[in-house]
Amino acid sequence: MCRQEEVVFFNPFTAEAIADPYPQYALLRAGDPVHWSDKLRGWVLFRYDDVVAFFRDDERLSSDRAAATKFRGPRLPEGTPRLRTVASDPPEHDPVRAMLNASLAARVRSVGPRVDALIGALLERIGTAVERSVEQSELTGEVDLIADLAYPLPITIIADLLGIPASDREQFQAWSHAIARGMDRFYSGGAAAEGLQELGAYFVQLLGQRQTTPGDDLMRDLLAAEHHGERLSQLEVVALCTALVFGGHETTVNLIGNGMLALLRDRGALEVLRAEPALITPAVEELLRFDSPAQFISRTARVDFAWRGSTIRAGDAVLAGLGAANRDPEVFAAADRLDLRRSPNPHVAFGLGTHFCPGAQLSRIEARAAINALLRRYPRLRLGDRSPVHRATAVLRGLERLPVRVD
Ligand code: HEM
Repeated sequence: MCRQEEVVFFNPFTAEAIADPYPQYALLRAGDPVHWSDKLRGWVLFRYDDVVAFFRDDERLSSDRAAATKFRGPRLPEGTPRLRTVASDPPEHDPVRAMLNASLAARVRSVGPRVDALIGALLERIGTAVERSVEQSELTGEVDLIADLAYPLPITIIADLLGIPASDREQFQAWSHAIARGMDRFYSGGAAAEGLQELGAYFVQLLGQRQTTPGDDLMRDLLAAEHHGERLSQLEVVALCTALVFGGHETTVNLIGNGMLALLRDRGALEVLRAEPALITPAVEELLRFDSPAQFISRTARVDFAWRGSTIRAGDAVLAGLGAANRDPEVFAAADRLDLRRSPNPHVAFGLGTHFCPGAQLSRIEARAAINALLRRYPRLRLGDRSPVHRATAVLRGLERLPVRVD
C-alpha cells in the first residue's frame, strides 16, 4: 500500500502521463482505487474487479444520463418521440442492440476481402511515397503509420459499410475527427461535444436520398431490421449510424497505432509475431490489454451509494479505468509486460455486459490484417528518427504521429 500523498495527484494530462499513464494508475490502484478526480470530473475506478462491477451495475449506473452530459444530441422537432440509442439504459437499449448486432454482424462477416484490399492499396501508396522521399530528402524511408495507414483504414471501412458516397468522404472524415476532439475537450473541462449534430444532419439528408435510390448497405439493413415485431424509427437509424462513426473510428486508429508502437518497442515480440503470423489473434488481444484505445468509460449515478467507503451521490459521474484494470496485477501476471501468447486474457478493452462493444469483431479484423500485412511487407520495419507523438488526451488514448522506417 503506498502513501496517500503519493496518490492524490492523479493528473492524466501531465506530459509524463500522456506518454505513459500506467505508473500513475499503479499508485491509484494500490492507494486510492475509488478516486474523486477534479480533472475527469468524476469518481474513477482503477481496479479490475471494480471495473467489472461497474459494467454489471445497470441498476445504479446510467449510460443514458452519462451520454447526455457528454454530447449535445440533435435538436429534434417538438413532439418527436424519445429516441432509443445504444447509450439508452435497459430495457430500452435491448431491442436497439439486437437490431444493430444482427445488421452489423451480417456485414462484418464478409468484410475481410475489402479490408485486405484497402490495406494493400494503402501499403502500395506508402511504398510509392517512400521511393519519392528517397529521391527528394534525407528522411530515407520514413513514413507516418497513423496518417498513412491507421487513420484511413477504419474510416474508409465504416464509410463503405454505411454506403457514404465517394464525394462526401472527406467531409465525413472531418466530422468524425471533430467528434473525437470534442470528447477530448469535454474531458479536459470543456463543454459537451458538438460535431454529432452536423453528422446527424448529414445522415438525415442521406436517408432522404435513399428513399428514391436505396443502397445495399448497413443503413438499409438498419431501416429494415426487426426484433419481435419492433422496428427502428428513421431518427433512431440516424443516431445509430452516428454512433458507429463515433465509436468505430478513432478507437481502431488507436488500436493499430498503440499496438504497432508496443511491438516496435519490443523487438523480441515483433520478431516472434513475424515468424508466426497465426499468433496475431492472441497478439491483438494482448495489444488491446497492454495499451487500451479507450482508457475511460463513464456512467452517471442514479442514486446515492457507497463504493469502497466513498460516498457517490446521485448525479455524480463514475468512470471505469479500462487501461488501469487491464494492468491490474491481481488478474494479469507480469501485467506490465507484453506477452503475445497471454492466455487467458480477460481484458476489458471493449467493455462488458449490456454495452459491450458491437464493433469488437470489425476492429479485430482490421487490426489483425493491418499488423500482419505490415510485418510481412516490411522485414526491416523499425521506429523512425523522429519520436512518436501522443495526442494530449486522457480518454481516447492514441498517437498523433508514429514515424517509422520501412526501408
Ligand atoms: C479497438 C477498437 C474499439 C474499442 C477499443 C472499442 C471500445 C468500446 C467500449 C469500451 C465500449 C463500451 C462503452 C460503454 O460501456 O459505455 C464500446 C461501445 C461501442 N462501440 Fe466500440 N470500440 C472499438 C471499435 C468499435 C467499432 C469498429 C465500432 C463500429 C463499427 C464500435 C462501435 C461501438 C458502439 C456503437 C458502442 C456503443 C454500444 C452500446 O452502448 O450498446 N466500436 N466500444
